[in-house]
Formats: sequence, C-alpha cells, structure tokens
Amino acid sequence: MRAVGGTEGYAEDAARLVRAYESVSFADLHGDLLPMLPPPPARAVDIGAGSGRDAAALARMGHAVTAVEPVARLREWARRAHGGLGIVWVDDALPELGSVRGTFDLVLLSAVWMHLDEGERAAGMARVAALTAPGGTVVLTLRHGPVPEGRRMFQVPAEEVIGTAAAHGLRAVQVRRTADLGRRPGVCWTRLVLRR
Ligand SMILES: C[S@@+](CC[C@H](N)C(=O)[O-])C[C@H]1O[C@@H](n2cnc3c(N)ncnc32)[C@H](O)[C@@H]1O
Repeated sequence: MRAVGGTEGYAEDAARLVRAYESVSFADLHGDLLPMLPPPPARAVDIGAGSGRDAAALARMGHAVTAVEPVARLREWARRAHGGLGIVWVDDALPELGSVRGTFDLVLLSAVWMHLDEGERAAGMARVAALTAPGGTVVLTLRHGPVPEGRRMFQVPAEEVIGTAAAHGLRAVQVRRTADLGRRPGVCWTRLVLRR
C-alpha cells in the first residue's frame, strides 16, 4: 500500500472516526457559509472527504460532487453510507491530485490542510488554484491546537494560507476563527473562504 503524507493514523481509527464525523452535520459546521457558496447545480470537489458527510450534503443540495479520499477504509465506508447520490469517489491525495480532472466551482478542504507539510502545502495550493474555475470558491478549514496521538499535523497560520493563495490568484474573502464543536481542550479552527 502506498503511503500518503498526512493520512497517518486514519486507517487504524476509521471505525471510530466515521462515527465522530457523522455525529455533526454540514449545517452545524458550515451552514452559515451557504450564502457564499455557488448556487446549485455547481461542480464541487470535497478533498480529504473522510466519511463523506459534506460531499453528501452538497450532493443533496443539487451539486455535482466529486469526493477525494486517499484512505480506503474511509472512502469505502463513505461510498456505502452515502450511496445513490451520484457522488464520484476518487482515490487520490494532495498535493498532486493527479487523477482529478477538470475545474470546479467549489473546492472544499475541510480539516485537511494542516496535515500537509510545508512543501506539500506549497504544491497543494498551486493544484487547488488550478482546479478552481474562474469565479470559483475555495473553503479551507485549519485545526489549531494539540495534535492527536499517531496523527501528522502542523500548526499552520491563516496568514500563510492567505499568502500562498494570493500568489496563485485566490483572494481571501472571509477569514473566521471558530470554536471546536467537539469541545476538545485547546482546539480551535480557522475557516477561510477564497475566491478565484
Ligand atoms: C480530519 S479528517 C476530515 C474529514 C472531512 N473532510 C471532514 O471535515 O469531516 C482529514 C481527512 O483528510 C484526509 N487526508 C489526509 N492527508 C491527505 C492528503 N495528503 N490528501 C488528501 N486527503 C488527505 C484524511 O484521510 C481524512 O479523511
């Protein structure tokens, strides 16, 4: 099996993690974003889709959704749990995303970016920008605080994301610090909305 940087610890813990991810809803996490998202039907890609919670919510809204998830146990669980919605599941990973074709009106990177090291973040932003259609929107969330055991995670400041995004033609239109819905000690989030 190939090793994908950033996925450390996910396969081993997949059963517990899918329960945790599905215990919150897209509306709880991202509901206030709806006015900033492209109207359906738009082309959306959820990168690092995990249990498929957000991909499924976007598909139910009427978007054409591609979901990218490199961890087979998560991807297969998600495919079964959210079948019948027309989601296209892809086994691929940042930064290359070599088998993701075309451009998207919405690129979602929920709780993924801080798993990438510095070089992967630089290469990944170039790829994300190339996947974003002109006028398209990127939503990227960053987790801050303690790193769960067995996981690879970096402390990534929002300013770094804003800078690399700008260098690739993605302008930050909203940056918000948000609380952790799971109330984990010391954990908080930044959510960035970028526009091409
Ligand atoms: C904290 S989970 C978030 C899952 C989902 N996006 C959510 O918000 O519930 C992080 C996800 O990123 C994926 N991931 C880690 N490294 C990745 C990489 N290099 N490329 C793509 N996805 C990656 C993991 O497999 C996992 O599904």
